[in-house]
Amino acid sequence: MTDPEAFWDRMAHGYAKAQIRDMTSYDQTMARTRTHLSPGDKALELGCGTGTTALRLADAVEHLTATDISSEMIAIAQGKALRQGVENVAFGHASIADSGETGGPFDVVMGFNLLPLIDELPTALASIRSSVKPGGLFISKSGCLAEKSFYLRPVIALMQLFGKAPYVANLKIRTLEGLITDAGFEIIDTHTYPGIIANRFIVARRI
Ligand SMILES: C[S@@+](CC[C@H](N)C(=O)[O-])C[C@H]1O[C@@H](n2cnc3c(N)ncnc32)[C@H](O)[C@@H]1O
Repeated sequence: MTDPEAFWDRMAHGYAKAQIRDMTSYDQTMARTRTHLSPGDKALELGCGTGTTALRLADAVEHLTATDISSEMIAIAQGKALRQGVENVAFGHASIADSGETGGPFDVVMGFNLLPLIDELPTALASIRSSVKPGGLFISKSGCLAEKSFYLRPVIALMQLFGKAPYVANLKIRTLEGLITDAGFEIIDTHTYPGIIANRFIVARRI
């Protein structure tokens, strides 16, 4: 399997230049996420990529730690924060597996377009839970390939053969929500954003 850190380091500069594919859904996701954030929140975003979302949500919380397994992504994000003059976001290099050791516990932990890329999801969700305060929130948005995008599987498999795609779990919404619930969360808000892949927005409260 492709090493995720090396893969995302290779992708970082292309990812930074790429346009958001569905800006309407992105704007709606950001607005819906904001309804769950408070000005006093200490938040963590996992798999933050080049920092677009962290910088956009920075004014909705007191402080945001944003981490990613790719140091190339983090370097780009730090440059953007400097240029934009955003001072309450700290970008750092970390794997989702280390989320319990990134300065928490947090009021809110977020992960957008991240969970399907993790091959040991129950372990990762346990680590995420340990980074959320009791009663705090885990907010995620995940492409669920098994909902209707079965025709994409062979394309992804071919791309993986040539190192052009990372590991991607073939998740159904029901499966993903079951894993989040089993990890010790109660789901309090969901929405599906349609597209080539069904993108499931899930807000879960730590029990
Ligand atoms: C599809 S990008 C999404 C980036 C950003 N969240 C967004 O929505 O634009 C996935 C990101 O997750 C990061 N990532 C992949 N595996 C990870 C892991 N095990 N721990 C932390 N970050 C990871 C990648 O480096 C990449 O930046």
